Parts: sequence; structure tokens; C-alpha cells
Amino acid sequence: MQKLKIGVLASGSGSNLQAIIDAAAAGTLPAEVVMVLSDKPDAYALARADAAGIMTAVVEPKEYASREEYDAKLVKLLQLAGADTVALAGYLRIVTPVLLEAFPQRVLNIHPALLPAFPGLHAQRQAFEHGVKVAGCTAHFVDSGLDSGPIILQAPVPVLEDDDADSLAARILEQEHIIFPLALRLLAEGKLSVEGRRVYIAD
Ligand code: GRF
Repeated sequence: MQKLKIGVLASGSGSNLQAIIDAAAAGTLPAEVVMVLSDKPDAYALARADAAGIMTAVVEPKEYASREEYDAKLVKLLQLAGADTVALAGYLRIVTPVLLEAFPQRVLNIHPALLPAFPGLHAQRQAFEHGVKVAGCTAHFVDSGLDSGPIILQAPVPVLEDDDADSLAARILEQEHIIFPLALRLLAEGKLSVEGRRVYIAD
């Protein structure tokens, strides 16, 4: 089985990036993280990549006239690094067809809600404030919409009586760290097939 060569896009603390790095190091994910890119110079994800000896770059949105030109730069860097898969790990920008067409059916995202419920930002708080009894997270293929691509895996997280938005988010994050590396592993093993909106997982 070929190892995935993953380019990771991250805007924040990078705990999902760390879960991918750790799974690859443990051998439970047949992959190599070849590059970490961020739109935020102060993203702690960059420090995590440095500590793991992974090439990093910061691409500042304000230096690009359009989202498409921005993504063209990302594609160039990802291709230079030899990436064949892109993982959006706490990445807060919407990707354009420029990136999606360069990596068809190879861009995956982790979202901290049971899509299609609560797309967009602060999904954990949206769910908590809506009063859901079961929250969760979703690993999915990325399409040109907002958190709208075909769903690969989901994990439910019950809301506890003494939860607040932060304690719920912390428990959801634990499940993100499980299903995102697992979704990438299924991709690496060639076990994912997509028909329309449905993702089939081979045994
Ligand atoms: C996670 O809940 C992720 O789903 C969301 O941001 C949170 C932090 O992610 N997009 P990370 O620690 O930066 O991976």
C-alpha cells in the first residue's frame, strides 16, 4: 500500500495536525505529512510541524488579490512538497475550485459537528446553544460548498447535564483526533468510494 503524502492546512492550535503526525509515527496511518501550510503566522500548528521536522510555510491572504490566486499559491507549494492528499485541520478559509481541481477527491476536512447540522464557525457552540442532546464531529471530502462535501465518518458525542460549550468542544475534539486519522487511513487503503453524496467504505 502506498503511503499518503499529506499536505496539511491549519489556522490554529493544530491538535488535529498533531493527531495525524502521531498516527503516522505510530504506524496506524500509512502516511507522511510532507508540508504544513497556514494563513496565520502565529498558528501553533506551525510549531508542532517544526517540532516534527515537517516543512512549513505561511501564506498571507492579504498578499493575494483573490481567493483563487491564494489557492494557486497553496497548490504550487503542495505540489513542490509532493503532496497527493490535502487535510484541512482546523483551517478557517473556504477553499476554491483551484485547490479542489488540483487534488480531485483528495481534500478532506474535519468539522466539529454532525453535518449537515451546524456548518461554519463555532459549530460546537452552535450545537450547545441550540440545545442538542447529541453533538459530534464529521470527517468529509471537501467540495466547493461550506462543510458540504460527502461524509466519510462521523462520531457522536452526548451532551452532559453539566456541560458548557467549552467542555463539550473538548470532548468533541477527542473524537476528531480519532476519526480524522481513521478517514485518512481508509483513503490510504483505497477503501473509500463515492457515489453521488454517499461514501462507501469497503471491508
Ligand atoms: C477543532 O474543533 C476543529 O474541528 C476546528 O477547530 C478546532 C481546533 O482544531 N476547526 P485544531 O486543534 O487546530 O486542530
